[in-house]
Amino acid sequence: MTPQEISRLTAEICARAPVVPVLTVKNPAHARPLAEALVKGGLPALEVTLRTPAALEVIREMASVDGGVVGAGTLLTPADVLAAKEAGARFGVSPGATDRLLDAVEDADLPTLPGAATASEAMALLERGYTIQKFFPAEASGGVPALKAIGAPIPQVRFCPTGGVSLANAPAYLGLSNTVCVGGSWVAPNDAIEAGDWARIEELAREASKLTG
Ligand code: 3PG
Repeated sequence: MTPQEISRLTAEICARAPVVPVLTVKNPAHARPLAEALVKGGLPALEVTLRTPAALEVIREMASVDGGVVGAGTLLTPADVLAAKEAGARFGVSPGATDRLLDAVEDADLPTLPGAATASEAMALLERGYTIQKFFPAEASGGVPALKAIGAPIPQVRFCPTGGVSLANAPAYLGLSNTVCVGGSWVAPNDAIEAGDWARIEELAREASKLTG
């Protein structure tokens, strides 16, 4: 798949809702009810980070939830790409980008949001054909003013800012012309997952699904 095709498909996934929940799930038994609560609350695109031993099983479980589009986050290596794809991930997210990683997602036909935090990183990805990127770590890299400033000379790249994004600051990001959606873990707090409080998570998703710029 070409980078242009990857960006086109990734843009479609990002257009489904203003927020992509970033999920770090330890217990595979939580996967299905968690995904169902988020989808029911209006957030269909879900990013499962590959940061727990259970992550691939969680992706496998969530992949069959009606109305959901499950992706794998924290893609660092070609092996991560293959494992994510094999588990049923329909998209990938990476905190950065290396040539080996990009070769792997293109070979595996996995729509992926590669990460950039500076103008040079965004330009390198654009040079290869990626027009949809993750702005990471968003708040630590200067937040809304930084992303807005990158958009002035590089308007053809649009971003999903992630890292420190919250209910409070999401509208400012979503108001930027170069933001397609935001990513964040606030819609699925660890304590709510551990307690199995799916009603709370559904409510947080509903609130997030109504965010606009
Ligand atoms: C992460 O690295 O976990 C994601 O970027 C999510 O960041 P957040 O927890 O600040 O939303």
